Amino acid sequence: MAYSNRHYEELKGAYLFAEVARRSSEYKRANPDKKVISLGIGDVTLPLVPAVIEAMHKATDDMAKKETFYGYGPYEGYDFLLEKIAQQDYKARGVDISTKEIFVSDGAKSDTGNIGDIFGEENTVLIADPAYPVYIDTNVMSGRKVVLVPTKADNGFIPEPPDFASDIIYLCSPNNPTGAVMNKKQLLAWVGYAKKHHAVILFDGAYEAFIQDSSLPHSIYEVEGAKEVAIEFRSFSKTAGFTGIRCGYAVIPKELKLQGKNGEVSANELWFRRQSTKFNGTSYITQRGAEAIYTPEGRAQAMQNIAFYLENVAIIKKGLDACGIEYLAGLSSPYVWFKCPGGLSSWDFFDKLLTVCNVVGTPGEGFGECGKGWFRLTGFNDRSNTIEAIERFKQL
Ligand code: MLT
Repeated sequence: MAYSNRHYEELKGAYLFAEVARRSSEYKRANPDKKVISLGIGDVTLPLVPAVIEAMHKATDDMAKKETFYGYGPYEGYDFLLEKIAQQDYKARGVDISTKEIFVSDGAKSDTGNIGDIFGEENTVLIADPAYPVYIDTNVMSGRKVVLVPTKADNGFIPEPPDFASDIIYLCSPNNPTGAVMNKKQLLAWVGYAKKHHAVILFDGAYEAFIQDSSLPHSIYEVEGAKEVAIEFRSFSKTAGFTGIRCGYAVIPKELKLQGKNGEVSANELWFRRQSTKFNGTSYITQRGAEAIYTPEGRAQAMQNIAFYLENVAIIKKGLDACGIEYLAGLSSPYVWFKCPGGLSSWDFFDKLLTVCNVVGTPGEGFGECGKGWFRLTGFNDRSNTIEAIERFKQL
């Protein structure tokens, strides 16, 4: 009999959002007459913006004609998209990233999970707690040692470099689940730590488009020296409603080196090797859709959707204010991170919110120890559902 990957036995239960879905489906099945509103998983509800739809229709027409048909694309993505990313996401913010350092993918979830393929099993991985569960679970699956860096409410849930060494560090800003955004000084401290310990930072910037404060960095590469120590991940899921379409990208600077058997090796080359072996590229139609977000009208339309979701966030926070519930301040994230009322545990509060208010949220504990007693709601539902959910919540 074939052996299983034994590391899977070390995982703590089901994947968080699968467990949330299981519990809410069970409740819905038992209570078919109830209208359950989900402010749980961070899934968008607004349709793709017109500029994206138009570009995807046109790309579909390209695929219908022999002269403009596309088969397998480049593993790293088409130049038309890579150039827009390099120009508008980086050069426009004073960061020099070449198209050869960008790899288009099917999203940040896959990238942040798959990146472990280029790192040895012997690395120690540092993860700020609470965290997006993909970081921990994928490293446990690969048998790497995970060390958690606790973050606390009184420090705004901002992780600080510890006084011990590690090899790989996951940072997420704006943070999922807390919504905390790291400033340049805080990122600089991590870049300094990575340099000191020859570590690599895996910087998840999936929620970058939600940043409202112009003083805050959108990319870790806005910090001096970060190109030597950091890989960055971005996603079109929350930026432009691509959760169902799937598109994102990773930036792996040429300067970033890892320790090989016989000296230094390029992380960029290893990732190309990995992607060209295991991934056949993001579809042409999808990449044309993503490209449309970089046109002035596409950008404006996507930003309008983000403003809409942030208004939902403001509505949820107003509701929490009315109930005197403590939450993490700031408006640069689609998530509201708050303390469970009545001293309830996260899962007990999840059950209560589901059964009494018929509202689904995400228990903070699912993101780690430091999320115990905290809870996450999203601003991604539509306006009437958000208002209704928060009215039910206020009654509770
Ligand atoms: C979340 O709710 O944290 C996200 O939607 C999950 C994801 O992006 O995979």
